[in-house]
Amino acid sequence: MGRVAGLAGVSVRTLHHYDEIGLVRPSARTAAGYRAYSAHDVERLREVLAYRRLGFGLREVAELVGDPSIDAVAHLRRLRGLIQERRDHAVVMVAAIDRELEARAKGLMVTPEAQLEMLGARLYDEIGGAYTATRHTEPRIAEQIWSALGDARTVLNVGAGTGSYEPADRHVTAVEPSKVMRRQRPRGSAPCVAAAAEDLPFEDHSFDAAMAVSTVHHWGDPIAGLREMRRVARRVVVLTFDTDEPGWQDRFWLTRDYLPEFVGVLAEFPSLAGMADAIGARAEPVPVPWDCADGLFEAYWRRPRAYLEDHVRRAMSVWTKVGPDAEQRAVRNLSDDLDSGRWAERNRALADLNAADLGLRLLVA
Ligand SMILES: C[S@@+](CC[C@H](N)C(=O)[O-])C[C@H]1O[C@@H](n2cnc3c(N)ncnc32)[C@H](O)[C@@H]1O
Repeated sequence: MGRVAGLAGVSVRTLHHYDEIGLVRPSARTAAGYRAYSAHDVERLREVLAYRRLGFGLREVAELVGDPSIDAVAHLRRLRGLIQERRDHAVVMVAAIDRELEARAKGLMVTPEAQLEMLGARLYDEIGGAYTATRHTEPRIAEQIWSALGDARTVLNVGAGTGSYEPADRHVTAVEPSKVMRRQRPRGSAPCVAAAAEDLPFEDHSFDAAMAVSTVHHWGDPIAGLREMRRVARRVVVLTFDTDEPGWQDRFWLTRDYLPEFVGVLAEFPSLAGMADAIGARAEPVPVPWDCADGLFEAYWRRPRAYLEDHVRRAMSVWTKVGPDAEQRAVRNLSDDLDSGRWAERNRALADLNAADLGLRLLVA
């Protein structure tokens, strides 16, 4: 017990208490006859302590770990999702705090609404207001997605945002958790349900197809969300990003030369193979046209000056996630290299390309 307490960073008294209330009972015996933790007990203790650290009460933790339908892997996935959600919240709160500090330093008033808003904000409730400035339907990418939908008549669009890739000639239902994004959906667009991918409020096989575009990397638990899509639809189409390919960090000059922090943003993102496996999908590349109409992170690979524009960056979540220091440094260095001709020299080969494979992939199942 002492050794386990030391490894887990809790007191022996805590372990005694968990034993007394039946939460984690050391079920093995040492050679000398003392009670000890089996590998399974340690696994359970780890789950208990992780849920406790996330703020769950003892009764809630008992319910969570006592559910016999959930195995260790499912607990790890759930924990990972919860932790990632907290990280996103932390990013939003740090950004809001930075803004308030800056405003106070200039002697400006911060409204009570602004002070309170950061506490409940989701990432897209925070940054979504800047979305429609540059995020539009890119027709060539739309064509690829719509063709993958095959003959589907009813389509669920998960993480729908403002509805950029919703096909007009099919019966679409949208799912979008952020109220800021839902409010920006154009009048007359598909009905939109406030829900998250990981827990879709629909019966099994409710739709011919489910699609998700540029959203999976925002989900607390991508694999759970993909499985949900599989559950509710007979066909699944997902536009996502490949981090399996060796050297993927160097595919795009922006991350290679100016924003290495991008790697950290996707550090916990599942492998493309793992996501494909979860839904039985094949993957096809989605080239980004040189004049891509959707201002996604990779859109301006042949128009580098666009990244110097604040309104362009504000519609890309990456910049919020890496934080203002990395953003300012990247923009400054890019600006210097554009002015000195260094960028042009390094990226001469791009001038002749009309489309680039920058890791975007369409999973089709
Ligand atoms: C980059 S936007 C993409 C929107 C739209 N699919 C498009 O292509 O324009 C990402 C969207 O995912 C949504 N999102 C974040 N977490 C989600 C979750 N757990 N389930 C579903 N959508 C989520 C965000 O609110 C945001 O609207």
